[in-house]
Amino acid sequence: MEKDVLILAIESSCDETAAAVVKNGRTVLSNIISSQIALHTLYGGVVPEIASRRHIEKINQVIEEALREAQVRLGDLDAVGVTYGPGLVGALLVGVAEAKAIAYAAGLPLVGVHHIEGHVSANYIENSELKPPFLCLIVSGGHTHLVKVKDYGVYEIVGRTHDDAAGEAYDKVARAIGLGYPGGPKIDRLAGEGNPAAIPFPRARIEGSPFDFSFSGLKSAVLNYLNSCEMRGEEINRADVAASFQQAVVDVLTGRTMAAAQEFGMKRVAIAGGVASNSALRSAMARACAEGGLEFYHPSPVLCTDNAAMIGAAAYYEYRKGVRSGLDLNAVPNLKIGER
Ligand code: KG4
Ligand code: ZN
Repeated sequence: MEKDVLILAIESSCDETAAAVVKNGRTVLSNIISSQIALHTLYGGVVPEIASRRHIEKINQVIEEALREAQVRLGDLDAVGVTYGPGLVGALLVGVAEAKAIAYAAGLPLVGVHHIEGHVSANYIENSELKPPFLCLIVSGGHTHLVKVKDYGVYEIVGRTHDDAAGEAYDKVARAIGLGYPGGPKIDRLAGEGNPAAIPFPRARIEGSPFDFSFSGLKSAVLNYLNSCEMRGEEINRADVAASFQQAVVDVLTGRTMAAAQEFGMKRVAIAGGVASNSALRSAMARACAEGGLEFYHPSPVLCTDNAAMIGAAAYYEYRKGVRSGLDLNAVPNLKIGER
């Protein structure tokens, strides 16, 4: 039997300071998340410098808690995994510097992890039977991609957004209807009280790129709708706006994912990223996959939004392939998927 591999994983790319201990890429021994949401809500969005400063204050405490809850000492670990991009540079540097210090002091190998590959790998944690190949829809605050996961850590992008990411559209529309930050969960909740067929918002297609996305036209359509209601002195039903906007996003995400699965003959479909915790998207994808005879995978909501357990899962498969980062590892704010 192979020896267990224990990885301490660290994530600080945006507004969550997180650490986890993960065994063999799939068993989460601890998953500690210190969220900064309350802090950034005051400003209506993430303030990069405030995020970095809060990471510095919290990171040691979060790591100590992750080790304590997992009942693991540094000497028991096999490697340290850390997100080194993409994300906010000052935020990433806190996690990267911390991981390097621990790896150096404890004599452990260091494995730099791509944040988005972490989101994809969140699917391995609760689905022990899931193995590549599968198709994954990645929908976060900064990314909207359809990727073929050909093997562990091997990706081929088959669709991408030409402008806003899905999460970005949620956040902008939430601000426009006065819901504030963070927009996604607030729209998700309010949409439950509205009529998704009330307002015919557009479902944009990209000429010649059947698996690509565009959300900026949808965002403008919502803003135009709000303006014209205001000019006519009509009261705005915010729940109907939220529900109709959400339906447009979900229709496009689900439709294009199903079309790609069919085109590329993929039998398994997964979703990943913060927007993958959206209740309407989860049920629409589950329905579409059932109708199409496809297996559908999704992480629990807490593993969809930023966390370090997913970084531990991705780090494990890189570690197994022999990937090691040097102590000169740096933050790469615009790291592309599949790049090292
Ligand atoms: O993956 P994530 O936590 O951070 C990034 O890597 O960007 O994603 C954050 C995004 C935000 O835009 C947030 O509004 C959105 O995910 N989000 C949601 C929901 N929960 C978070 N969007 C729709 N419905 C949700 N329930
Ligand atoms: Zn993320």
